[in-house]
Amino acid sequence: MSKNIEMNTLGGSDVVVTGGAGAIGSRLVKRLLSENVARVLVIDNLSSGYQWLLPDDERVEFFRGDVVDLPQISLVVSRPIVYHLAAFFANQNSVDHPLDDLRTNGEGTLTTLMWAKEHKARRVVYASAGCSIAGHIIDGPIREDMPVSLHMDTPYQITKALGEFYCNYFNPMVSTVRCRFFNSYGPGELPGRYRNVIPNFIWKAMHNLPLIITGTGQESRDFIFVEDLVDGLLRAAVVPEAGGEAFNLGTGIQTRIIDLAKMIIELCHSKSSIEFAPRRSWDNSFHRQASIELAHSVLGFNPQADLREGLAKTVNWFLTNRQEIERALEGSML
Ligand SMILES: NC(=O)c1ccc[n+]([C@@H]2O[C@H](COP(=O)([O-])OP(=O)(O)OC[C@H]3O[C@@H](n4cnc5c(N)ncnc54)[C@H](O)[C@@H]3O)[C@@H](O)[C@H]2O)c1
Repeated sequence: MSKNIEMNTLGGSDVVVTGGAGAIGSRLVKRLLSENVARVLVIDNLSSGYQWLLPDDERVEFFRGDVVDLPQISLVVSRPIVYHLAAFFANQNSVDHPLDDLRTNGEGTLTTLMWAKEHKARRVVYASAGCSIAGHIIDGPIREDMPVSLHMDTPYQITKALGEFYCNYFNPMVSTVRCRFFNSYGPGELPGRYRNVIPNFIWKAMHNLPLIITGTGQESRDFIFVEDLVDGLLRAAVVPEAGGEAFNLGTGIQTRIIDLAKMIIELCHSKSSIEFAPRRSWDNSFHRQASIELAHSVLGFNPQADLREGLAKTVNWFLTNRQEIERALEGSML
C-alpha cells in the first residue's frame, strides 16, 4: 500500500449508511465493523436492497425508511460519518422512471446533506458515478478535473451529477467527498432487470442460458471489485485533505464485454452461448476508464483484485447464496 492511512480515526464512530442494504452498502457495513466503529445505522427502503445482506452484529441498527424522510426517522447520533449510497439504480431504470429517479437521487441527496449539517456530521461521503460526470465524449482515462458535460445520456447521470452540485454547495459547512464509482461488481449484487452486467451474466451462465451482449462486445468498461471500492470509501472518510474533493474509484483497466462474457462462462463451467442485441438507445459510451492517479496520491487508494480473481469470488458467492437469490428473484423479470 503506497500510503498509510490512519483508519483508526473511524474507531468508536457513529456511522450512518443510507442504502446500506444494497450491493455496495452491505459490503461497506461489513468492513466498517471490522474497523471497530461504535455503531452503523443503516437507512434503506429495501427497494433494491435486502436485509439478509447485512451482517448479523449488534452494532448494526437497521431503519427501514425512505431517505427523503430522514428527518422523521429518530436517529440519535454523535458527530456521525455519513455515507450516502441510497439511490434509484440505475441508467435504464431512470429512463423508465425519471420522476422516481429525481425523488431519490435529487431530493434524497439534498435531504441527507441537510440532515448531516444539522447533526454536525464529521463528513459526508457521496456515491457518485463515473458514467455521470464526463458524459460520453471521452476516449481514454477520465480524470476528475475534466469538464462536466451538459449532455448526459440518462436521468440517472443527471441526478448523480446534481448530487455532486449539492455536495459542493454544502462543503465546507459539512465536509463532503464525492466518490465517482466505476463499474462495481462482487459478492452482494443480485441479478435483475436494472442491475449490472456481471451479476446478470453470472446468473445466466449458472443456468446455461445465452449471455446477451447489447452491442458488439468490443465496448469496454472499468470493473472494480467491491472490496477495493469499499477500501476507497473508508479512506475517503478519514483523509483530512479529501474534504471538498472528488475521486474516481475504478481500476484504470478496461475490459471488453466479450472478454468478460467468455471469462464468466469459463468460471461457471457453463454451456451458455454468447448472443448479440442492438445497443440500448441511450448508451453512447463505448469505452469507459478511470484515471485513479488522484485517488492514489491523496487517498492512497490502490485496488488489489484482478478481474479473474474477483469474478471467481463473486461466482462462489452466487453458489453459496443460490437459494436466497432465487427467493429474491421470484416473479421478477431478468
Ligand atoms: N454498482 C455500481 O456499479 C455503481 C456505479 C456507480 C455509482 N454507484 C452508486 O453507488 C451506490 C450504491 O450502488 P449499489 O450498486 O449498491 O446499488 P443498490 O441498488 O444495490 O443499493 C442502493 C440501495 O439504496 C436503497 N434505496 C433506494 N432508494 C432509496 C430511498 N429512497 N430511500 C432509502 N433507501 C433507498 C436500495 O434499497 C438499495 O439497498 C448508489 O448510489 C449508486 O448510484 C454504483
